[in-house]
Amino acid sequence: MFEARGKIIKNQRLSDRIFILTIDCEVVAKNANPGQFVMLSPPKITNLTLRRPFSLYNVIDDKQLSILLKVAGKGTQLLSTLTPEIELSLHGPLGNGFPLPNPSKKLLIVAGGVGAAPFYFFAHKLKNNHIKPIFLLGGKTKNEIPFYEDFKKIFDSIFITTEDGTIGKKGMITDYLNDFIEDDILIYASGPIPMLKKIALIAEKNDLDWFLSLESYMACGVGACLSCVVPAKNEQQKYLRCCKDGPIFSGKQIAWERYDC
Ligand SMILES: Cc1cc2nc3c(=O)[nH]c(=O)nc-3n(C[C@H](O)[C@H](O)[C@H](O)COP(=O)(O)OP(=O)(O)OC[C@H]3O[C@@H](n4cnc5c(N)ncnc54)[C@H](O)[C@@H]3O)c2cc1C
Ligand code: FES
Repeated sequence: MFEARGKIIKNQRLSDRIFILTIDCEVVAKNANPGQFVMLSPPKITNLTLRRPFSLYNVIDDKQLSILLKVAGKGTQLLSTLTPEIELSLHGPLGNGFPLPNPSKKLLIVAGGVGAAPFYFFAHKLKNNHIKPIFLLGGKTKNEIPFYEDFKKIFDSIFITTEDGTIGKKGMITDYLNDFIEDDILIYASGPIPMLKKIALIAEKNDLDWFLSLESYMACGVGACLSCVVPAKNEQQKYLRCCKDGPIFSGKQIAWERYDC
C-alpha cells in the first residue's frame, strides 16, 4: 500500500451523477490488481477528514488509474467537480483483489449499477487468460449505467436489464439470473446488498461457488478501525473486515442472514 499524490488527468461526465475520473499516479497504478480499491481524499480546500473508497475501474499503461464515480453525498459530489491538474491524495492499492477463476468453469459476472466498476479492469485480465465470461448488468435506468457501451466493447457476451426498461430487458438483473444457471457455473458479483443477498440464495439453492466485491462504510481502509466489519459465516471469527479481509470474498464466507442493509 502506498500513500501517494495523484493529479487529475480527465474528468468525464457520463450522465447526471456518473463520472470517470482519470488520475496520474504511477506508484498505485503499476501495483494494482483488479478488485482492489483506493481511498481518495479531495484537495485540502475541503473540511472532509475521511478518505472515500473506490474500486479501480481501469489502469492505463501502468501509469494512470481511473475510477467510476457515482455522486452519493458530500465527498463524491466534490470529487465529481475536480478538473485536470488538481492534485489529490491517494492510499492504495488496498484490499485483496479477484482470484483468477478456474478456466474449466463457465464464468457468469453479475453487476448492479456502479458495482460494475471493478469488472472493467478485471475484464482485461480475463481476456489475457482466454476466459470468456457472460456479463450481466442491471441498473435502475439507462442513466444509472451509462458506461454500458464500454462494457459492450470488452465483453463478447452481455445481457442488460433496467427497472424501467429504458435499455435492455425490463426488471432486475436477479429476475433473469436463473435463466443463466447451469452446472459447473461460477459467479462473480458486485452491486447493492439486496442484489447480493438474492444471489446468495440462488447460489446456495444450486450449490454454486461464487465470489463478490463488497462495499461497507470505511474509515481507515487498512484493517485498523473496524468500521467496515461484516458478519462472518465462521462462528469463531464472527466478523470480517471488508477493507483488509476483502473487499473480495467467497459468498460462503458471509453470514447473509445476519447482514442488515
Ligand atoms: C471497497 C469499496 C469500493 C467502492 N467503489 C465505488 C466505485 O467504484 N464507485 C462509486 O461511485 N462508489 C464506490 N464505493 C462507494 C463510495 O465509497 C461511497 O459512495 C462514498 O464513500 C460516499 O461518500 P460521500 O461523501 O459522497 O457520501 P456520504 O454519505 O456523505 O459519506 C459519508 C461517509 O460514509 C461513507 N460512505 C457512504 N456511502 C458509502 C458506501 N456505499 N460505501 C462505503 N462508504 C460509504 C463515506 O466514505 C463517508 O465516510 C465503494 C465503496 C467501497 C467500500
Ligand atoms: S476501514 Fe478501518 S478496519 Fe476496515
